[in-house]
Amino acid sequence: MPPTLQHIHQLRDEGLASISLRPVGFYPHEQTISAKNPELSNDTLPNDRCFENSMSTTVNGFLNMANSHNNRLDSQEDSYVLVTGGAGYIGSHTVLELLKDGYKVVVVDNFVNSCEESLVRIQKLAKQPLKFHHANVLDEQTLTAVFEKYKIWAVLHFAALKAVGESTKIPLDYYWNNVTGSLNLLRVMEKFRVHNIVFSSSATVYGDPEESPVNEQGNLGPVTNPYGKTKLFIEEVLRDMCKANKKWNSVILRYFNPTGAHPSGIIGENPKGIPNNLMPYVSQVVQGRLPYVNIYGGDYDTVDGTGVRDYIHVCDLATGHVAALRKLHSDPGCVAYNLGTGVGYSVLQIIGAMSRACGKEIPYKITDRRPGDVGIVTADASLANAELGWYPKYNLDQMCQDLNRWTSTNPSGYPTPASETKRILQEMSS
Ligand SMILES: NC(=O)c1ccc[n+]([C@@H]2O[C@H](COP(=O)([O-])OP(=O)(O)OC[C@H]3O[C@@H](n4cnc5c(N)ncnc54)[C@H](O)[C@@H]3O)[C@@H](O)[C@H]2O)c1
Repeated sequence: MPPTLQHIHQLRDEGLASISLRPVGFYPHEQTISAKNPELSNDTLPNDRCFENSMSTTVNGFLNMANSHNNRLDSQEDSYVLVTGGAGYIGSHTVLELLKDGYKVVVVDNFVNSCEESLVRIQKLAKQPLKFHHANVLDEQTLTAVFEKYKIWAVLHFAALKAVGESTKIPLDYYWNNVTGSLNLLRVMEKFRVHNIVFSSSATVYGDPEESPVNEQGNLGPVTNPYGKTKLFIEEVLRDMCKANKKWNSVILRYFNPTGAHPSGIIGENPKGIPNNLMPYVSQVVQGRLPYVNIYGGDYDTVDGTGVRDYIHVCDLATGHVAALRKLHSDPGCVAYNLGTGVGYSVLQIIGAMSRACGKEIPYKITDRRPGDVGIVTADASLANAELGWYPKYNLDQMCQDLNRWTSTNPSGYPTPASETKRILQEMSS
């Protein structure tokens, strides 16, 4: 039975078309078809002889290519996704989602801001084996050994230092770790002809935007802190690389304000020192580790005068990464997406929601605005909705409840690794 247009469209909707058809010129054919036969039904191929001829070439080419794509996917069944920084906050939730989705995953991390226990817990939650290598992304030799050992088809690159305030004090460490580390990784990927990467960027690359919601076409920068600059630099590097070599595919994800924890309360954020971000800060006030929340500015033009930001549940971010990996199959070149909910909450609304989640009053003080801060920053995530088919599903109350569950059951974060943890990690590395 000849394949129908419906079949073709179905394959295209499944994401096969762009990767499969570009090499045999699907798009020019498709244009010819619609120009020749505007009433083309979705169900049958027309009788027009000339059309049939061109169509059968297209269809056969299409199906061959689709099959080869399927073969490529099959061959990816024994290939790994490399996750740098996979033991960290966002990385750990993403690794869990990947394992649940059937991906084979190898993590590299040097635990500069995380610990072994998160990996052990991910493996337990996923009930799937996880591979791990203790490695610094700055260390070319160890990275090379990982690429030699595993057949890798894509990299999710989370590994970075992320504290904005700290980056202004030790900029060189930030540039070295985040920029040189990323360049090193990209060079090793190039050496092994692995050309697919999903990069963790940040809303910081927009600087302090005057207008919200911010979309991906918005101006980038000026970025005033070294951390944000490292993200912007690597974005630029990726854009240049994809321009220079069409084999490279890079999905840049600009996160807004990740928060929450896995609903199980088993994995979550393990902040070291005084947190930079509002939610973990509020959490530490709830735990009695910090006396009150400092609110910078109570006279913005917002719902209650305090600053409004876009918060996103870390599990929604995790599914965003799985969607980004799927996007890589369509050879997108370099694309950037905002990952946010598009809904803004003020600092007082956050404190209110956290207070409801933990059943306690949370003390706060309102002080002067910080220089450079703007009243409202929210994401326009419609591009990610449309092109990745990704939609966040958690609301603010769920974010706060999940965060509270994690911090109340793990008040000191992850424990120092016991000998059992070390043994499991050794198994993961073998
Ligand atoms: N959490 C946020 O608010 C936020 C917002 C926007 C973007 N991001 C970006 O998302 C990514 C993940 O953030 P996170 O919140 O999970 O941070 P995190 O600190 O919890 O995780 C980063 C992980 O990378 C590891 N790492 C750092 N440098 C490394 C190196 N040189 N070699 C190997 N491992 C290294 C750390 O040990 C840690 O496990 C980072 O790139 C961060 O900049 C985070």
